[in-house]
Amino acid sequence: MSLFKIAVIVGSLRRDSFNRKLASAVARLAPPDFTFKQVPIGDLPPYNQDDDENQAEPVKRLKKEIEMAQGLLFVTPEYNRSFPGVLKNAIDHASRPYGQNSWAGKPAGIIGASPGAPGTSVAQQHLRNVLAYIDVPTLNQPEAFIQVIEGLFDEAGNIGTDSKQFLQDWMDRYVAWVKKLAV
Ligand SMILES: Cc1cc2nc3c(=O)[nH]c(=O)nc-3n(C[C@H](O)[C@H](O)[C@H](O)COP(=O)(O)O)c2cc1C
Repeated sequence: MSLFKIAVIVGSLRRDSFNRKLASAVARLAPPDFTFKQVPIGDLPPYNQDDDENQAEPVKRLKKEIEMAQGLLFVTPEYNRSFPGVLKNAIDHASRPYGQNSWAGKPAGIIGASPGAPGTSVAQQHLRNVLAYIDVPTLNQPEAFIQVIEGLFDEAGNIGTDSKQFLQDWMDRYVAWVKKLAV
């Protein structure tokens, strides 16, 4: 039985996103008392404070999914040395209306994949700043900057041999972190 529901937010809307694939593959490294659900963010309107008292349906759905979760997992690419605008849009939406921040207190992990060697390190650092402000405690170590290279995924879409131990260790630490902080 799943005791820990994790809301997964993928920072890419691209059909064949490596980060979405990574989010699915890494979830399979978790123990059976954890379930991971990717929360759609592509249907959210651009955030507009005028709508705070009358939020669109996709915004209400996003807030509900976050509130029902015991933990968060952000899996994001880096766009121009930050995290993508669609992810910031989702964060802003669910942080409002003022006083009803859905993210607050949920323990979060951050990972990201990029074809570039230093990929996602700056994006992740920017994301940590924003999450600190909205009161989301983040797992600091180990950091996970995943380079997309041949063999990262096997034919079944699982994490390939070379990265498996690293990401299993990451998942074990993440699971312990969520168990410690989940309310
Ligand atoms: C607008 C844009 C900006 C990008 N900027 C960066 C960057 O700053 N650092 C980086 O490592 N990759 C950068 N990339 C390459 C992405 O890492 C690459 O497209 C990756 O596949 C995106 O993740 P996804 O496969 O999950 O969509 C950029 C891509 C786009 C489209």
